[in-house]
Amino acid sequence: MPAPMESPNAARFAVPVFSCFLYLWIAATSSLNPVWASQVCEFPAIFNFGDSNSDTGGLAAALWGAPPLPNGQTYFRRATGRYSDGRLIIDFIAQSFGLPYLDAYLNSVGTNFTHGVNFATSASTIELPSIIFPHLDGFSPFYLGIQYDQYMGFMSKSDFLRLQGGVFASLVPKHEFFNNALYTFDIGQNDLGRGFFGNKTIKQVNDSMPDIIDQFSRHVENIHQLGARYLWIHNTGPIGCLPYILVKFPTAERDEFGCAKAHNEVAQYFNHKLKEAVVKLRQSLSPPAAITYVDVYSVKYSLYSNPGKYGFEKPLEACCGYGENKYKYGIVGCGYSKVVNGSEVFGRACGRPSVRVNWDGIHYTEAANHLIFHRISSGAFSDPPIPLNMSCRHHNHLPQI
Ligand SMILES: *[C@@H]1O[C@H](CO)[C@@H](O)[C@H](O)[C@H]1NC(C)=O
Ligand SMILES: *[C@@H]1O[C@H](CO)[C@@H](O)[C@H](O)[C@H]1NC(C)=O
Ligand SMILES: *[C@@H]1O[C@H](CO)[C@@H](O)[C@H](O)[C@H]1NC(C)=O
Ligand SMILES: *[C@@H]1O[C@H](CO)[C@@H](O)[C@H](O)[C@H]1NC(C)=O
Ligand SMILES: *[C@@H]1O[C@H](CO)[C@@H](O)[C@H](O)[C@H]1NC(C)=O
Repeated sequence: MPAPMESPNAARFAVPVFSCFLYLWIAATSSLNPVWASQVCEFPAIFNFGDSNSDTGGLAAALWGAPPLPNGQTYFRRATGRYSDGRLIIDFIAQSFGLPYLDAYLNSVGTNFTHGVNFATSASTIELPSIIFPHLDGFSPFYLGIQYDQYMGFMSKSDFLRLQGGVFASLVPKHEFFNNALYTFDIGQNDLGRGFFGNKTIKQVNDSMPDIIDQFSRHVENIHQLGARYLWIHNTGPIGCLPYILVKFPTAERDEFGCAKAHNEVAQYFNHKLKEAVVKLRQSLSPPAAITYVDVYSVKYSLYSNPGKYGFEKPLEACCGYGENKYKYGIVGCGYSKVVNGSEVFGRACGRPSVRVNWDGIHYTEAANHLIFHRISSGAFSDPPIPLNMSCRHHNHLPQI
């Protein structure tokens, strides 16, 4: 497969100048009309489904506690359950709509779900984990099917609480928010990882992709059935550029930027099937939904192919943790301590996370997440190629919010 190209959509998307002026005129003259007043989408809430790429504290609340500082050091200055030094893409998405950062559904303390819920947990898969308890086989029990169940339960409980009134009613979304919210998805990386780490051949993992994508579609259909109308679906990133793969598979063939070639090709095949599935969902869902497919892969890959262009260095090296290889990964995890050769070694952070891509060998730094958000929100990597803040509007027959 050829190396992914950057921004294939950018050139095709150009707003006619006339409609820009019309748009400005309408925006300026119709502030009393709620339909025209909000030319950009004003989602009242976000419901997110996914894995550690968008986990804002779910797995930490449920099972293992938050990964300790220096996780969180750059922005929150405390451990929040995010696997990063700061904010994730989902945090920047929420912020861009003026919404609070999403609380994890599983977090029982101090949460307020008025403007959305995060069902994502680290290590989640699309496919049912083989053994849930007591051996987690390294993956989260909260796979996408369970995240759907939780969403369903959350919805009916919210409706119940709202009728009761009082303080609990002020912690849940309004009923109409479930139809008007943005539903975001970022999941699949662990389905690949699980295959690779489960001693499957590249071919076996690759061959399992269509079935995994079918399962993804079933879950999306179920979530749509309960009211989701605006969906923003991230494809999976170049897993073959992450230290946890590079260290585990030292002999796997590398591409020109040092990423594991075949592992990335499986990710690209996943994305190819995902994009096909999105096309089918657009045709089959009734009532219709505005579904945006977002090519996060290309944006992440550009950080490996051309890091200097975006102000980054050493993209294949983990910033935080300790390892005796060029990826600086694998012996002591970020924020943990371990005795190595008789002396205690702390998995500390590198000096300048702001110029680094990889945080802990698996996840991205806040700086990388911010850049990725910035580029995907423009619409240049989306199908259809329209910005995040217009993502409610690409089906004219949909009610506009
Ligand atoms: C939850 O957040 C909403 C919106 O920010 C706010 O109006 C509400 O009062 C909050 N609930 C509580 C109990 O603080
Ligand atoms: C994979 O193979 C290695 C060596 O053959 C073995 O030690 C390991 O337990 C296997 N892992 C799984 C998940 O089967
Ligand atoms: C994955 O399968 C697809 C469809 O059979 C094939 O085109 C592609 O080359 C395969 N990729 C890998 C890495 O095996
Ligand atoms: C541990 O010992 C090995 C072999 O002597 C050496 O290569 C490595 O750098 C040592 N690690 C630390 C943390 O001292
Ligand atoms: C909508 O998003 C585009 C692309 O990111 C941005 O240029 C524009 O300023 C945004 N519009 C508003 C009103 O925020």
